[in-house]
Amino acid sequence: MKRFRLAFISANIIGVLAYVFLVQSCSKDTTKIPQQTICDSLGILTYSTDIKAILDQNCTSCHRPILHENNVDLSTYPDTKTAIEKYDIVCNIKFESGCVGMPNTGKMPDTPIQKIECWIKSGYPN
Ligand code: HEC
Repeated sequence: MKRFRLAFISANIIGVLAYVFLVQSCSKDTTKIPQQTICDSLGILTYSTDIKAILDQNCTSCHRPILHENNVDLSTYPDTKTAIEKYDIVCNIKFESGCVGMPNTGKMPDTPIQKIECWIKSGYPN
């Protein structure tokens, strides 16, 4: 009888551990949505319809023709393209380590960050 009980208890412990492991690995999957899925859900993004408004609202106060911090002008498509090719703007807007976070006054919300990132990854169409 004692043996049976012991086996029963250890089977339960294994069950609980397996459950915890499964729940944890599943919740990890749902909280971290793959970048490609996010980009697919945003559809085709272009400078003129999606990105210019974000840059005008968040960047051109410091990155425009008369005042262009670090020679970065984000007021037109050609100037923005030049900046993308010179700097790792995705690193800047995501405040990743190894680059200066932008806007330097505070990080933008997730949606504009994702839009700029997906747009750059898709080849920054005009
Ligand atoms: C309040 C002013 C301000 C705003 C708003 C701002 N920037 Fe900047 N930006 C700066 C300054 C100042 C520098 C120079 C920083 C340095 O060298 O430390 C800079 C530098 C940069 C650089 C060059 C990075 C480098 O490594 O030197 C990029 C790219 C950039 N900004 C992109 C952006 C983008 C994209 C936005 C909007 C999402 C933005 N910035 C908004 C002030 C600003």
